[in-house]
Parts: sequence; structure tokens; C-alpha cells
Amino acid sequence: MTEQTFPKGFLWGGAIAANQVEGAWNVDGKGLSVADVATYKPNVDKKDFAAHMTITTEAVEAAASDTTDTWYPKRRGIDFYHRYKEDLALFAEMGFKTLRLSIAWSRLFPTGEETAPNEAGVAFYKELFKEMKRLKIEPIVTLSHYEMPLALSLRYNGWVNRSMIDDFVRFANVCYDNFGEYVRYWLTFNEIDSIHRHPFTTAGIIPDKSGENLEEEIYQALHHQFVASALVTKAAHEKIPGSQVGCMMTKLMTYPLTCEPLDVELTLKKNLENNFYADVQVKGEYPKMILQDLENRGIKLEITTADQSTLKEYTVDFVTFSYYMSMAESGDPKAERTPGNTVLGVKNPYLPSTEWGWQIDPKGLKIALIELYDRYNLPLMIVENGMGAMDVVEEDGTVHDPYRIDYFKAHFKQMKEAINEGVDLIGYTSWGPIDLVSAGTSQMSKRYGFIHVDADDEGHGTYDRSRKDSFYWYQKIIETNGASLND
Ligand code: BG6
Repeated sequence: MTEQTFPKGFLWGGAIAANQVEGAWNVDGKGLSVADVATYKPNVDKKDFAAHMTITTEAVEAAASDTTDTWYPKRRGIDFYHRYKEDLALFAEMGFKTLRLSIAWSRLFPTGEETAPNEAGVAFYKELFKEMKRLKIEPIVTLSHYEMPLALSLRYNGWVNRSMIDDFVRFANVCYDNFGEYVRYWLTFNEIDSIHRHPFTTAGIIPDKSGENLEEEIYQALHHQFVASALVTKAAHEKIPGSQVGCMMTKLMTYPLTCEPLDVELTLKKNLENNFYADVQVKGEYPKMILQDLENRGIKLEITTADQSTLKEYTVDFVTFSYYMSMAESGDPKAERTPGNTVLGVKNPYLPSTEWGWQIDPKGLKIALIELYDRYNLPLMIVENGMGAMDVVEEDGTVHDPYRIDYFKAHFKQMKEAINEGVDLIGYTSWGPIDLVSAGTSQMSKRYGFIHVDADDEGHGTYDRSRKDSFYWYQKIIETNGASLND
């Protein structure tokens, strides 16, 4: 008989990112980050993710000199900076074993180039980790989650410049020296593959600065991030005994729309491309077919022999990924398309979608788990998964969110099946266990949480927290280590 529960010690929890929760954008010496200039665009269709993320030098400079926060929701976040104790207490009440969170680089290094960190920033995270320790919530820390110092972007066009590697390694070392006693699990770059979909958010690249060289410069910046990732993996292992460092990718599961061989070939290539980023961080080298593809496209990269040995030597200990949706692929240019997580894919007629057009596919999560475990043979963690929805607050303040419970239930069942079939899945952190600002659209009204935050897109509201129906449901899942899935 198969076990009813998840493996002993399974890390149940949630995931947040500094730039989407902290707020306090100009407090205690923090510098501007790329997230602080992301504007909320109320009149743009919420399914048009590309329009929400369009960036120009002119717009960035105008935003940087604007000292208000109305149109920049990430400057407000959910005020986690001041309310983290209350939020951690709610996570503890749900039974969280772990919380994935990130450290805002510009809180420690306001412009990215200081030689010593901002002590107020260091003190904030120290207190935060101490509180997590007190509550027995194991931190999983992402070093870079869409929040690099804006000054590095404006001055150097971000990660296009090799000097970013040294700046990032200096930042990571400060994190290890100060927080290493509290943090065992580290992730280097959130969704490192997303550099192609939103180069500014991921790597500080402003497209008009790159001009015609944009594609090549994106790959060069990505290469610098790969090298930086390897170097900070090395540093973590040297500085923190027992530390575990993971890579993090967006798992964009793609199916052939039909069994027509062209659809199958195109799909295979999409999936190979999606895995390439973890391949480099796990296997320590670029896949031959990716190098050939770059050559075929005339993209020339500066990859030194020292870079090659760094990549080869300092590979990651485990593999993590986000999973929200899947999509299809087709050779037919007229095939209907639908948005996903900052991607446009072919619509799969078998799947329902969220209001943002993301196709809900629990079985795809199981397929991803099997594929990734077979490919890498390393422990896996799902570090983001969830469903953005417009919740309704009833007159008595309650939020009934059966759609969210259904989403999680279906995904957890698939996780359990994958574990029963031999996949080494060690943890799961839902995305946005508390409502937070959307990365893609900067909306507050796109809600993922088990905990409601009383704030709207323009910052009105008390910011008070309250428990949704899903809060109690997830609490029971954790308490029974998954056995209540069968209720
Ligand atoms: C992931 C990001 O891609 O998707 C998160 O790592 C993000 O930062 C999440 O919030 C959901 O996307 P969105 O646009 O709905 O916030």
C-alpha cells in the first residue's frame, strides 16, 4: 500500500520576494532597485503582460526621479518591512516548516558598488532570520529575485557588464557572513531563464541601450549570471558548513498541440531550451546543441576558459523551479495563443485558464517532476506554484476561495503521485502565501495568498491581514503532512 502522507521532514511552506512584499523602498538607507521603477498601468489589459513590462531609458529615468509611490506598487509592497513579525506569526500558525524569501540587494548595497554594506539593511535581515529561527521556520533564501540596484542598470546596462559578477559576489559574501548561521538553503538567481522575457527585471538591461545587439547582450548577461551563480555556490560551500545551494528555473511545460511530427519536433526544442538554464548550473557546461544554435544565429559570446572551469567545478546541490501553467506548441502559425507566466503559448483545448489566461494543468506538474528528476538525479523543490485570482471580501470580512483550494489540491495530488513513483521531492513553497504585488503587472488585485491583505492597486486600504478559507485548508495539509488530501 502506498503511504498516505508525504515523506517525513517534507518542507511545506510559502515563497515571497523582497521587492513584492517589503515596501519601505526609501527607508533606512535602501537604494532604488529595478523593481522600484515598475509602474502599475491600470488601463492596460491584464493579459497583455508584455505591455506591462515595456521599459525605456526615458521612462526609467523619469520614474527614478519621482518620489511618490502611487504608480509604483512595489515601493509599497505589503509593508512586510514593518509587519514581518505579524506575518511570520501567521505563517507559523499555518504550520510552515519553511519560508522562501529574498534579500533586497539594494538594501545592503544601495548603488551596488559600495565596498561595505549598509548596516541598517544587515540589521533588518538579521532580526528577520532570528525571528524565523524562534518560530522554527527554515529559511530558503534567493540572492537575486528581480531586485538589483537600479544604479547598476543605468550605469552599466546591468548584467551585460562583466563587473556585475564581482559586485554580486561581494553582496553574496556579506549575506553569507551575516546570515550564514541562520540560513542553510540558498538559491542563486530566481528564474534565471526569464532574462529573455523581461531583461530589465531580471538583469537590469534596458533594451534601447543595447539597440540592435539586444539578443547577443542578453546571452552575454546570462553568461555572467551563470558564472556569478557558480562563484557564489563555491563561496557558500566554503563559508557555511552544510549549506545547500540550488538553481531556480521557470518550468514552462510544453506539449505538442497534435501528434503531427513537426509539432513534436518544435515542442521538443522548446522543452530543451527551457531546461538549458538548469543544465548549465547542474552539469557545469553549455549543452552542445545550444552552442550550435547560438552559432547558427550569429550570436558570439565571450566565454573564457576560466569561466568554463568555474562552471564545471561549482555546480548546484539541488534543483528548484516555479510551476504555474503549461502551454502547447504547433507548427501552424494560425494556432490560437494564450498568455502564461510572461510567455505566449499555443492554447491547449483540454485545459481551463485563470483570468490572466494562464492554463491550469496539475498533471503538467507531475510530468515536470518526473522529467527533471530523470534529467538531473538531484533532489527537487517546487519553490513557486499558485493561482492569481480576484478574491471577493464578504461583508463580514471573510474570503471564500474554493477555486484556490481546488487548484492546490489538484497539484498536491500530482506531487504525491510523482513521489510515489520515485521522485525525490523534498519541499514545496506556494507562491505568495500572503497577498503581494504581482511581478508581471504590479497589481495588488491579482491575489495568490492564503492570507488576505487589505490593500488595492493604488495603495488604499488598512493593510490589515486576515485568514481566507484556504488558510485553514493549507494548515490542515501541513498538520497531517498531506494525509488530509484524501478527506
Ligand atoms: C514568478 C516570479 O515568475 O511568477 C514571481 O518568480 C511572480 O516573482 C510569480 O510573482 C507570479 O507572477 P505574477 O506576475 O502573477 O506576479
